Amino acid sequence: MKIATKTTLTTLLAAMTLMTGASAAFAQEKKTLKEALNGKFLIGTAVYGRQTSGKDKAAVRLLREQFNAIVAENCMKSQVIHPEENRYDFTEADEFVEFGEKNNMTVTGHTLIWHSQLSPWFCVDDEGKNVSPEVLKKRMKDHITTVVKRYKGRIKGWDVVNEAIEDNGDYRKSKFYEILGEEYIPLAFQYAHEADPDAELYYNDYSMANPGRRAAVVKLVKDLKKRGIRIDAVGMQGHIGMDYPRVSEFEKSMLAFAQAGVKVMITELDLTVLPSPNPHVGAEVSASYEYKKEMNPYPDGLPEEVSKAWTKRMNDFFRLFLKHQDIIARVTLWGVTDSDSWRNNWPMPGRTDYPLLFDRNYQPKPIVDLIVKEAGKK
Ligand code: G3I
Repeated sequence: MKIATKTTLTTLLAAMTLMTGASAAFAQEKKTLKEALNGKFLIGTAVYGRQTSGKDKAAVRLLREQFNAIVAENCMKSQVIHPEENRYDFTEADEFVEFGEKNNMTVTGHTLIWHSQLSPWFCVDDEGKNVSPEVLKKRMKDHITTVVKRYKGRIKGWDVVNEAIEDNGDYRKSKFYEILGEEYIPLAFQYAHEADPDAELYYNDYSMANPGRRAAVVKLVKDLKKRGIRIDAVGMQGHIGMDYPRVSEFEKSMLAFAQAGVKVMITELDLTVLPSPNPHVGAEVSASYEYKKEMNPYPDGLPEEVSKAWTKRMNDFFRLFLKHQDIIARVTLWGVTDSDSWRNNWPMPGRTDYPLLFDRNYQPKPIVDLIVKEAGKK
């Protein structure tokens, strides 16, 4: 009897231990992205009106569950927020900031000075001619001051200048550059700092693994710092493909920016599986190609081997981010689900891409569990 009781007890204990182990493993697997990455870096996503207004309920559920940071995909660009010189429209931007606050998310403003989605009036006079340097400085200052002050203390940081450098390291010949030369960049940072001295300030660009951009951005950061102008981080847009960039080149840029004295943010992560009509296009928004059926190979779903290759490559990047978690402040996906992604319409409209962590049915892809597991190791 005694023996039988002991055996029963032992069996029970063993079963309990097994169950505890199993439930611990289960709990580990069930961690969300933001739980798994807590203390390492923020995990964010770009959001747009259907989400911040609450219309897309399934997306809102995912946002609350998985992410702790948001960035405005479009609503803070000058064309939207400042459509006419004497008229601002804060409707969507207010909703975006409130959404972040209500859900305890770190809110990033995107973007104060960008050549694209730029209000048509911004750099020209009534006849369409470039304004003088003095007028442009005043317009930049008014715009930056009004927008940044409105959200003072509520926005953690701003993408102050977006996409100002080209692949070869030259300055992009935007209207801002044409009129003010390279000085428009320090001016923009200065105006933003004066409007909210506590806000973090970022420089954000794509194709940053490219050595030309890397060197030019390092120089820009050092120059700003030498002049005592605040810059907190460099945003590396992660618009990547299956064969570009090399992980090692991306890593070199991360380390180079950190060495220049700023944090690194992966700001617009998405991994396309679609063929590119032009391998040198980067994330140049003005690129546009006519739809071709053969350039849209997966309209009804991804073949297993492509899906596996995608998962592996995305995992390689997350492993890199985890390896360098000491220099990375935030990783932000450029959208929640595949159907939200700009990739479906750029550089060719009407394609079906699979670049994000959640599928068109709002379900996590296998990569989500893998990231959680990798985060548990490091
Ligand atoms: O809002 C109008 C709508 O009124 C109109 O009916 C419709 C018809 O085309 O267009 C709507 O505007 C679109 C806008 O997104 C909002 O959906 C624009 O055409 C479209 O060009 C615009 O695309 C955005 C793109 O920036 C434009 O610059 C993408 O959503 C956005 O994801 C993308 O984001 C950029 C980052 O800001 C900077 N880095 C590159 C990244 C990808 O291009």
